[in-house]
This record gives sequence, structure tokens and C-alpha cells, in this order.
Amino acid sequence: MNKDKLDIKNPELKILVTGGAGFIGSNFIHFIFKLNDFKGKIINVDKLTYSGNLENLKEIDDKYSQTRYFFEKVDICYYSALKSIFNKYRPEIIIHFAAESHVDRSIFGPSEFIQTNIIGTFNLLDLARKYWTKSKKDVLFHHVSTDEVYGELGDTGYFYETTPYNPRSPYSASKASSDHLVKAYYHTYNIPITISNCSNNYGPYQFPEKLIPLMINNILEEKELPVYGDGQNIRDWLYVEDHCKGIWEIIKCGTRGETYNIGGENEWKNIDLVNLLCEKAAKKLNKTKDYYKKLITFVKDREGHDKRYALNCDKIKNELNWEKKVDFDKGLEKTIQWYLDNKDWLQRIVSGDYRDYYNKMYKNR
Ligand code: NAD
Ligand code: TYD
Repeated sequence: MNKDKLDIKNPELKILVTGGAGFIGSNFIHFIFKLNDFKGKIINVDKLTYSGNLENLKEIDDKYSQTRYFFEKVDICYYSALKSIFNKYRPEIIIHFAAESHVDRSIFGPSEFIQTNIIGTFNLLDLARKYWTKSKKDVLFHHVSTDEVYGELGDTGYFYETTPYNPRSPYSASKASSDHLVKAYYHTYNIPITISNCSNNYGPYQFPEKLIPLMINNILEEKELPVYGDGQNIRDWLYVEDHCKGIWEIIKCGTRGETYNIGGENEWKNIDLVNLLCEKAAKKLNKTKDYYKKLITFVKDREGHDKRYALNCDKIKNELNWEKKVDFDKGLEKTIQWYLDNKDWLQRIVSGDYRDYYNKMYKNR
């Protein structure tokens, strides 16, 4: 397929986004509606699990609903419901964000991960195969994946696009499986695909079970800050908008059939990051520098806790001229500020089902 043929400026272009009510999906929808070169329509297909929140898209809904933005509450595990969506909209591009996304949840209950991440991805691919071979030419299935599929690193080295997969949690195993299915559909059925494997994202609208928003929430509530194990595990952090930009560059110009790493080249030991968050929050909240650090509590480690992730991103930088725009210092400050400005959003989440989950998860640590 000739990648130049994808007519991004066509107002009739229909992009089906799955998981658009979640953290990265909703940021992507905000991002795409701000672009000058996108004039088309977005169909957001989301089941609205615990992490899907339509509040994240209120402004988009107010401005574009039923003209350029369409929401469909659908579980991607239900083939017939998805089929109706394909019949109704006939999308040219699919950007697949929907997933069960939290490693700890995958350890406590892997079943949903197998269903959504593997079966759900299979359903989408199979419908794309049936629809696109018959009637569509310039199409693309972009699959949003994670660096965790590569396994874990020791103190040195990086994951490359060519690194063999070695997933070690039910979450990463289910994502690795979905990546393989996507590649299989490219090789077997010639479905144009691209895949991005990204490092840890942070930014607005992230559900407060992941490290950064959980710590911000607990700082605001002056609750303990649970650091797993000895806090020496390392993650690479990228501001969510930089991830969205990377996905968009891949969709526009990426080579079909290829995988691209997207990372922040920004490695942090968990304990150093939590300390930094404490300092930055203290500054914003007019407390002494070390005020929140007393809340740091080392808790029982995560089972099979991957030591370190780090990505080599030369391919997307060299081939697509992508580079991250938001440095970590500014990104963290923007993120803390966003949670301070959106305390109601946070409050509604932590006072709901999430609270029960949180208590269950942490009572034995
Ligand atoms: P999230 O948990 O915030 O959002 C997931 C969204 O998918 C939610 O809106 C949820 O309602 C929806 N969803 C879940 N199951 C569904 C189903 N069966 N049918 C339809 N919708 C369903 O996750 P996120 O952090 O935004 O991650 C989005 C994607 O990016 C995932 O594929 C994840 O693996 C990948 N990723 C995330 C990160 C990260 O740091 N968060 C990093 C790299 C890759
Ligand atoms: P997380 O945000 O769950 O992302 P992932 O496991 O997909 O990388 O966790 C990031 C790191 O922070 C990971 O090493 C686990 C650690 N962590 C804590 O120490 N305490 C916490 O409460 C959480 C949620 C994570």
C-alpha cells in the first residue's frame, strides 16, 4: 500500500478510535481535533470500563458531537456489536487503544486481559480484513502497544524494534499476543498495519492507579505513598501528548507492516521520581521541601516486578523526524497542576468503585 495515499485532509475520512475514553485515547482525541491537517471524523468505540470516563471528552462532545465526533458504547469482545459499527461507519483508519492496561490488575485477575487485549484485538482485525478487502483501498490499522512486551532489562542496554519478545506479566503477555496477531494479519492478509511500542506515559486524565497520578492523589490526601520493593525499579517516562504525536506521525508516514518504538529517553528510579513529585507538589502547595516525603512507605513488591525498561527510539526519530517536545520537569509540573485544577475529576474517581479496589489492593501490602 502506498502510504502517501492516505488522505488525512479529506473531511470524509473516518477514524475509528477504540478506548478513546481512557487516558491515552482521550488525550489523542483532544490532540487530533487541535490539528490543522485533520478535517475528518472520529468514532470513539469504548466499553467504559472502570478506566473509561466520558468526562475526559466533554469539550469534544460539546463541540463536535454528531458532526465530527461519534461515541459508541461497545465492548470490542462482542463481534456482532463491532460488526454493526463497521457497517454503520465504514472507517478507513483504526487506531486501537482499548485494553486492560494495569499490570497489578492483571496479576490479580488476568481473565479480562486475555478477553479484551487478545480476543478484542482479534475481532477488530478480522472485521478490518473482511471490510477492507471488499471495499476499501487506502486504509490502516494502527495498534497501540507497550515496551513491556520486550521483557525487562538489567542495568544497561535498550529495547530495539528487533528485540525478541519476552513478556513477563499477564498484561504484557496479552499485549505481546495482540502485537503478534496484528503482524500476522499484515503478513497473511495484507492488511496495512503499523504498531507503536511506547514507554510509560504521564499527563492529564490518567486513572489514579498508575504510579504518577496515584502519588499525586495520595499527596493531596496526605496518605501514604506506597513504593513497591526497594524503589530501585526503573521506568522511562514520556508526556502523553508526545506519544500522541508519535502515533500521528506513524499513521501519516510510517512504513506499513513496521513497528516503531516511542520513548522519552528519560529513565527514573521509582523512588527518585516519587521524591521529585513530593518536592514539586510541596512547592505548589506552599509546604516545606520535604513535607510530603514522610509519607513514603516501602511496601511488598509486585510479583514478577520488571526491573528496568528503556527504549531505543532512533527509528522514529530518523525515519519520521519525531522528537519529544515536553521535557520531564515541565511535563511533571503541568501534570501536577492539571490534577490540582481538576480535583473534582479526581474526587469523583477515588470516591467511587476505585476506592474499594484501592483498599483491596493495598490492604495486604
Ligand atoms: P486506560 O486503562 O486508561 O484506557 C483503556 C480504555 O479502553 C478505557 O477507556 C476502557 O473503557 C477501554 N476498554 C477497555 N476494555 C474495553 C473493551 N473490551 N471494549 C472497548 N473498550 C474497552 O489505558 P491507557 O493507559 O489509556 O492505555 C491505552 C493503550 O495504550 C493500551 O493499549 C495500553 O496497552 C497502551 N499503552 C499504555 C501506556 C501507559 O503508560 N499508560 C504505555 C504504552 C502503551
Ligand atoms: P505503573 O504506573 O503501574 O506502570 P507499569 O507497571 O506498567 O510500568 O508502575 C510504574 C512503576 O511504579 C512500576 O515499577 C511499579 C511502581 N509502582 C509503585 O512503586 N507503587 C505504586 O503504587 C504503583 C502503582 C506503581
